[in-house]
Amino acid sequence: MTTLTAVNADSADEATVAEALRVELVDTLVARDTVRSSPVEAAMRVVPRHLFLAGEPLTVAYADEAVITRRGDDATPLSSVSQPSVVATMLEQARLQPGERVLEIDTGKGYNAALLARLTDPAGEVVTVEIDPGLVTDARQALTAAGYPNVHVVCGDGEYVAGDHAPYSLVMVTVGAADIPPAWVDQLTPDGRIILPLRVRGLHRLIAFERADGHLVSRDIQVFGFVAMQGEGATPQRTLHLGGAQVRLVVDDSQPADATVLGQALTSSGHIVWTGVSLSGAERVLPHLDLWLASTLDTYGRLHADGDHCGLLGPTLPAGSSTTWEQDSLAYLTVRDAPGSNSTGGYELGACAYGPAGDQLAARLADQIRRWHREMHSGPGAVIRAYPAGTPDDRLAAGRVVDRRHTRFVLAHV
Ligand SMILES: C[S@@+](CC[C@H](N)C(=O)[O-])C[C@H]1O[C@@H](n2cnc3c(N)ncnc32)[C@H](O)[C@@H]1O
Repeated sequence: MTTLTAVNADSADEATVAEALRVELVDTLVARDTVRSSPVEAAMRVVPRHLFLAGEPLTVAYADEAVITRRGDDATPLSSVSQPSVVATMLEQARLQPGERVLEIDTGKGYNAALLARLTDPAGEVVTVEIDPGLVTDARQALTAAGYPNVHVVCGDGEYVAGDHAPYSLVMVTVGAADIPPAWVDQLTPDGRIILPLRVRGLHRLIAFERADGHLVSRDIQVFGFVAMQGEGATPQRTLHLGGAQVRLVVDDSQPADATVLGQALTSSGHIVWTGVSLSGAERVLPHLDLWLASTLDTYGRLHADGDHCGLLGPTLPAGSSTTWEQDSLAYLTVRDAPGSNSTGGYELGACAYGPAGDQLAARLADQIRRWHREMHSGPGAVIRAYPAGTPDDRLAAGRVVDRRHTRFVLAHV
């Protein structure tokens, strides 16, 4: 028979092991420079992540991995306990002070809400909104068990948000969004900031926005993907299957693209324009190039090829290749070992062209790759601005405009 003493001994052991694993995890995040400030470090050292992952082994709770906790009927992840390094990155972007009022869009199981409560303590306030009632119940229980019973967990669609505790100096969104609904901006203090994982032109970026003269401007842009928002704000992307299930073009927004004619283009004989731009394997600059191409090319999407080349002339990249198209022609970014690199990991960028206008498209893509390398490769990078929908064109900063229901995003480089 299990005695009370044995149960207590077991949970004492569990708490000790959990703490040791947590120390190890946070030490790693500090060593990697993901955790940089002492308040974030202190919060991550005390908030017991395993209490938000009941039933999971402690080693899972303290691995630097997202843990999927809900899936849709087609197995698409709907909810997760976010990856500790992503949580840390967002908290560092937030630069929270004690006493702040924070609105979190999307509670999940409540792990990040506990960290927010810890960082705003004393006298701060955390409101967190979750669309899934089952998760609301789980989160309330876990937050109480972890010692944060004062977090307000609201069940509802984060697109709208009940405004009982507004204004907030921070709105932190922990679900992939394609827009910024008015509720988030309207409830923000004049010097407030919004941190959100934004999908723009098919690219996923974690952005810290600040207010600037009637709009929001990015202060920091990182590369991270999140599970997608549900409810009224859900903004699906289109996946065009180009001549079979293995080659897919993912297209955001309402850009015109016809799967049949683009699929036919891929059956024509293509060719590759090599750019002469070579990068070393150690440089993690392709996400910067992607954002440059997304802001300079008139049509922009991501081409994915499952399996080995799928009959394409050049490989696509593991996270998809920047692609531009026009009716029955397309060009996408490809790579080959850099000439003379002798397998040191250096690679050259190129543009694969297909279809009657493939030459022009590939030339345009190659030109932009060369221009980025010349002007932007070591530069300060992209700036993304967010204006309310309806802002006239002549009030927007220069750049690529991406219109969404509530927001006019402008992508530019400084
Ligand atoms: C990545 S999880 C949140 C992670 C969580 N903040 C944590 O600390 O680990 C994203 C959550 O967003 C929720 N969600 C999706 N769309 C929503 C919406 N429109 N309003 C509120 N919650 C939403 C999902 O149910 C899911 O639980």
